[in-house]
Amino acid sequence: MNTVTTVQQLRDAVAQARRAGQRIGLVPTMGNLHAGHVSLIEQARRSADFIVASIFVNPLQFGANEDLDKYPRTLAEDQDKLAAAGCNLLFTPTVAEMYPNGMDGQTRVLVPGVSEGLCGTSRPGHFEGVATVVCKLFNMVQPDMAVFGEKDYQQLAVIRTLVRDLNLPIEIQGAPIVRAADGLALSSRNGYLSAEQRSVAPALYRSLQQLAERLRNGETDHAALVAEARRSQEAAGFRPDYLEIREASSLRPATADDRNLVLLAAAYLGNTRLIDNLCVER
Ligand code: PAF
Repeated sequence: MNTVTTVQQLRDAVAQARRAGQRIGLVPTMGNLHAGHVSLIEQARRSADFIVASIFVNPLQFGANEDLDKYPRTLAEDQDKLAAAGCNLLFTPTVAEMYPNGMDGQTRVLVPGVSEGLCGTSRPGHFEGVATVVCKLFNMVQPDMAVFGEKDYQQLAVIRTLVRDLNLPIEIQGAPIVRAADGLALSSRNGYLSAEQRSVAPALYRSLQQLAERLRNGETDHAALVAEARRSQEAAGFRPDYLEIREASSLRPATADDRNLVLLAAAYLGNTRLIDNLCVER
């Protein structure tokens, strides 16, 4: 696996693969890779011949009081994991390479609708930063397909909408959430948790499972179900940010008639904000 740092090197390497008739797959990441990221590479390999991964901790998608500075950077370990997973090319640009004219005047991509509410409310500007950097990566690599984790369910919806609305000829695939044995969704931010917080953390997923079970059993009072699930999160030691029942594909608030639902949660354990989600059919 080669690692390149400039857009020109990236374009040259991808052009060579394309000339050889290879289908290009892209897996954008912010590094500090875990088994969830490895599953994205493995999924990309099933649909493409030449896999490009990017590692870029994108300042544009972090709020002023968020964890940009302490976000874990583990390039050497990440390179080993990507190579072992069969990634062909790693792109690790600097901030100056991605935003050569600075970030203030950077053209931005705004995806209305699906960016609003949920993480869009808790993290103003976050999805604009995500959509902008993903659009730039798409233009730099021009992949045939790209894979994103379903753990960031709203992000995946934003990217699908951006690809549709801007007519980008890229197949977007979602990859299932990878969980630890106790149910906690893998996330780079799990590394911020103390041992005690880590033992509490799976309660977030359990609260979603319990809520899903009650929906499948025919309960339709969403407000009451959500209030109860929030109480169970609080009792476990979480400070809930949001917990919502949405229609799974449009992300609009679900009605009692909707059959395909997604439960979306964000909650704090100390200063660490965890997100999770669970799809439910009823
Ligand atoms: O999900 C992530 O790691 C990031 O939001 C992404 C898609 C790589 C954009 O910076």
